[in-house]
Amino acid sequence: MALLKSLVPCLAIVIFLSISSLSEAKEFVVGGKKKSWEVPSSPDEFNKWAEKIRFQIDDSIVLKYDGKSDSVLQVSEESYKTCNKSNPIKSYNDGNTKITLDRSGPFYFISGAEDHCQKGQKLEIVVLSANHHSGGHSPAAPSPSPVVNHHHAPAPAPHNGGSGLKAGFLGGVAVVGILALV
Ligand SMILES: *[C@@H]1O[C@H](CO)[C@@H](O)[C@H](O)[C@H]1NC(C)=O
Repeated sequence: MALLKSLVPCLAIVIFLSISSLSEAKEFVVGGKKKSWEVPSSPDEFNKWAEKIRFQIDDSIVLKYDGKSDSVLQVSEESYKTCNKSNPIKSYNDGNTKITLDRSGPFYFISGAEDHCQKGQKLEIVVLSANHHSGGHSPAAPSPSPVVNHHHAPAPAPHNGGSGLKAGFLGGVAVVGILALV
């Protein structure tokens, strides 16, 4: 009975850890781990990367580049489409820029270097609204994009609430096991 009583707070901790790991904000290096913010080899490379990820509020993106020769401009949709660098919402040139996606909806980024945006160094990120947040990062909420890709298996996105849940659960079990032994 005493053992059972001591288990209850442990289980509470396990459940708490599991839930918090589901809603944890994630950080993404733009283009993938080895890719940097530079003129891509194919023009829509950055957006192809972004389309595979379900960004949620408070996730962040990290852009890596040479701050002497390049920069990141956050711009309006209009400026994104026309590669207009003249009036950015925000600009960064520190070479390792972390931007928190603090609201839902689209974010637009272009390179501040001459002609880079025209060559495809641009990125659109759409953050899901809180309404779509029905259970962590994994569920496939309806996408605003009309392109539904049935042919490829979904890429193993780093967003994976399931494995976080599992890890939290296993960690919790370990804690329970240790406490039960004491
Ligand atoms: C670029 O944007 C600025 C400010 O938003 C605007 O005044 C200018 O006309 C735009 N330039 C072009 C080429 O569209």
